[in-house]
Amino acid sequence: MRFTVAVDGPAAAGKGTISKAVAQQLGLAHLDTGLLYRAVGAKTLAGHSPIEAARALQPEDLDSGDLRTADVAQAASKVAILPEVRAALVDFQRAFADRPGGAVLDGRDIGTVICPDADVKLFVTASAEIRAERRYLELNAKGATTSREEVLADVKARDERDMNRSEAPLKPAKDAVTLDTSALSIDEALQAALVVIKAKLPNN
Ligand code: CDP
Repeated sequence: MRFTVAVDGPAAAGKGTISKAVAQQLGLAHLDTGLLYRAVGAKTLAGHSPIEAARALQPEDLDSGDLRTADVAQAASKVAILPEVRAALVDFQRAFADRPGGAVLDGRDIGTVICPDADVKLFVTASAEIRAERRYLELNAKGATTSREEVLADVKARDERDMNRSEAPLKPAKDAVTLDTSALSIDEALQAALVVIKAKLPNN
């Protein structure tokens, strides 16, 4: 079975949490494509050229170090502007999407560029303030000492860069279902996503 679920949306909207849980419940593979850009961003912070780093990226680089820091997130959104970096990461993402057991990919351009023929497209969003609050709690639980204001500024800066770049800007695909999670718990958001996805599953 080839079944692709594309989940896009702005920073810290809950895409990752929803995608991981959907994949687990439906027995699909999951790829957090943000990790690819974060891995390239981390290598760039370590002194490598972003284009070379993207071309040489290995699957094990996605497990290396802490890719979830605020600094790496900013570096990721800066390297993500570069068309050569994006191009170097396309084949890996498409091969993942085409795996026989079906796959969920989350990111910014999955429904628009990477998998325009995905079986289901979700655009997961929430207000910037709510997203920043969630990310603030997440980062602080891991021991970071950033303030709420800094996290909100980071989220807004990334959104701005992600939405306004010329290559693969963040926007909902025309046929995406938008899921605003501002007033939803994680479980409510997951259930809402599952309703949309299950309706498209083969043999449903
Ligand atoms: O988890 P969060 O939503 O904060 O970010 P992420 O999904 O890990 O993505 C980090 C950065 O990578 C984003 O701000 C984008 O600039 C970039 N990215 C992208 O350009 N395209 C993707 N498919 C995924 C991430």
